[in-house]
Amino acid sequence: MLDLLVRRATLPDGRRDVGIAVQDGRIVEVRAGLGADTQALPPARDVLDAEGWLVSPPFVDAHFHMDSTLSYGLPRVNASGTLLEGIALWGELKPQLTQQALAERALAYCDWAVAKGLLAIRSHVDVCDERLLAAEALLDVKRRVAPYLDLQLVAFPQDGVLRSPGALTNLKRALAMGVDVVGGIPHFERTMADGAASVRLLCELAAEQGRLVDMHCDESDDPLSRHVETLAAETVRLGLPGRVTGSHLTSMHSMDNYYVSKLLPLLAEARLNVVANPLINITLQGRHDSYPKRRGMTRVPEQLAAGLTVAFGHDCVMDPWYSLGSADMLEVASMGLHVAQMTSRAAMRQCFDAVTAAPARILQLEGYGIEAGCHADFVLLQAREPLEAIRLRAARLAVYRRGRRVAATAPATATLALPGRPASVDFTLQR
Ligand code: FE2
Repeated sequence: MLDLLVRRATLPDGRRDVGIAVQDGRIVEVRAGLGADTQALPPARDVLDAEGWLVSPPFVDAHFHMDSTLSYGLPRVNASGTLLEGIALWGELKPQLTQQALAERALAYCDWAVAKGLLAIRSHVDVCDERLLAAEALLDVKRRVAPYLDLQLVAFPQDGVLRSPGALTNLKRALAMGVDVVGGIPHFERTMADGAASVRLLCELAAEQGRLVDMHCDESDDPLSRHVETLAAETVRLGLPGRVTGSHLTSMHSMDNYYVSKLLPLLAEARLNVVANPLINITLQGRHDSYPKRRGMTRVPEQLAAGLTVAFGHDCVMDPWYSLGSADMLEVASMGLHVAQMTSRAAMRQCFDAVTAAPARILQLEGYGIEAGCHADFVLLQAREPLEAIRLRAARLAVYRRGRRVAATAPATATLALPGRPASVDFTLQR
């Protein structure tokens, strides 16, 4: 007896009328036509009729800050809208934080995430704090949400691992406490030389301890902010290809094309993973420009063409850096698509991958996907295909974790009262 049979699903790769059989929290079979005949359904405790809607693996956010989320307005708002004022504001808020308030806000955000079908998040956690309050709170949150959400934590020295006294010791303490990944912020160190030294130091630490690396890197409009070069070179030197992620990389937007033509093959050699954060960087970057104002997002289509794994992250929701957001990774994908002008059908499809399969690879999630043997984690979207899901920010009709329904949203409908027109309006085109 199956625990769950999903019938009449459409999958992101275009397969239609697919059945998904689930047992003990895992997918045991995925086959076209499975469960199509209602007279001959395989025995199952629960049956979900997808009615041709899209069944996708869950959304994954490869870059988030759960220690600052939902703190918007505490103790004041970011008046200039810049990265640097955001960092200063976070510094003002830090002494007032309590473990309880941090955990409550993080848990509230995880509720939002699950409702939106976002079931895995890599969150940076600021370790520039003797008390390691945020690390402790988020490790507790990680344990509490584990039944329904995978939370991966990055030890992030927000104020600079070299610039901030005690940061390296605190970062190592956080790793020993159970934080997973080594973070960094080379462009915030005092000098370019210090930035490069911080990259070397942190990559060596990761290599010694067998950790993944994910650095905030070159989140700047300065085309000479080239720490990504050091990050890739250290990745190659230390034998870490595929295990290192460069987050933001916004200076690449402003770099000289000739330099980028030399840089991209190095990034490919390092199999560097990239996380662009389109919502944040379209608002934070270019603040020193008059007109034209730069877009402030890294070169996503070119990185994809070079064979790199590129994800789109949410980065922030209602905090010192960003006042909007709702854990909706389809909104993130839509903004990335627009900013990078990824408007061909193939490129729009890559934008859907950038909030699903690509970040799952970066986080090295086990059992991710809609295939036999994978975890029975998926989202039923009110859309017929991935591009329609992005266009409509499709309703998450049902969210499943390990074969159990953990969230549901009513379908989006609108009624009309127009003479001679139908009573309702349907925004989908793929029926
Ligand atoms: Fe970030």
